[in-house]
Amino acid sequence: MPHTPHTPRTPNTPHTPRTQDEAPSPLIVVIAGRKGGAGKTTTALNLAGALAERGRRVLLVDLDPQASLTRLLLGADAAELEGIGTRILAPQRGIAGLATAVLPGVHLMPGDRAIETAAMTLADNPTGPLRLRKLLAAVRDSDVILLDTPPALGFALNTALLAAHVAVLPTALAQQDFDALADTLTLRDELDELRAARVLAIVPNAVRRDGHDQEGVDLLRRCYGSLVSAPIPLSVAVKRAGNSRRPVVTYEPHGAAAQAYRALADIVEKERDNGA
Ligand SMILES: Nc1ncnc2c1ncn2[C@@H]1O[C@H](COP(=O)(O)OP(=O)(O)OP(=O)(O)O)[C@@H](O)[C@H]1O
Ligand SMILES: [Mg+2]
Repeated sequence: MPHTPHTPRTPNTPHTPRTQDEAPSPLIVVIAGRKGGAGKTTTALNLAGALAERGRRVLLVDLDPQASLTRLLLGADAAELEGIGTRILAPQRGIAGLATAVLPGVHLMPGDRAIETAAMTLADNPTGPLRLRKLLAAVRDSDVILLDTPPALGFALNTALLAAHVAVLPTALAQQDFDALADTLTLRDELDELRAARVLAIVPNAVRRDGHDQEGVDLLRRCYGSLVSAPIPLSVAVKRAGNSRRPVVTYEPHGAAAQAYRALADIVEKERDNGA
């Protein structure tokens, strides 16, 4: 039985738009977590699919220097494209020309190794982690921006937490996953004075349907209450959909996994409505 991973948290105040411009600014959602393989990239793809299904214009931004999301969606073509890291290094260039269409209703700003260069180059620059926030402020033709992040505490995660309004934290259900979740929440709290993303949902991911993971889900709920969203099942369809570069809502639209991602999209939609 794992120990209590973190002090209970209550939902915070709703997102409010940050600009006075007439065009509504998109809701920016960071998908984060220190633990590798927790399902961040899978959540980004499938949440994008579920939001696009209801007519939202989604922009995915791949902040992982491994560029897993970019490779998943674009395969070999990924290497041809300029990534977001180059613009974090040279913010005067803005974001024009970075986004490429990847799915109906979904665009992607690719990931690249330049994110690692930015982390080193900007190590002593106090405003470096705010560059992504400033770059994304220019996005007007999307309803929701989803930021995929690497499995490490560091520059990419910091810059994403500072650019986003809210955070979605997928987690598996072993002790080390709970420890990583607590670390991610601590980092978020530490960045709070700089207006870091508020936690919108903690998402139990790859939950076995035979009941073996129920204890872990219950523990998460005891610790984090209503922040814990409906579990995403461990699903072959999710894996196969990813292998065919598609979200599960189009690959197996009537399955349990598709329903779970739609429930997560509902949470994001509500947040968008609150900020509108
Ligand atoms: N609900 C699920 N059902 C089945 N397989 C899943 C599910 N979620 C994730 N996976 C699989 O688990 C693996 C890891 O998922 P993913 O790449 O999304 O994790 P990640 O958190 O982005 O990893 P990293 O930390 O390396 O970026 C992938 O092979 C993915 O297909
Ligand atoms: Mg990933």
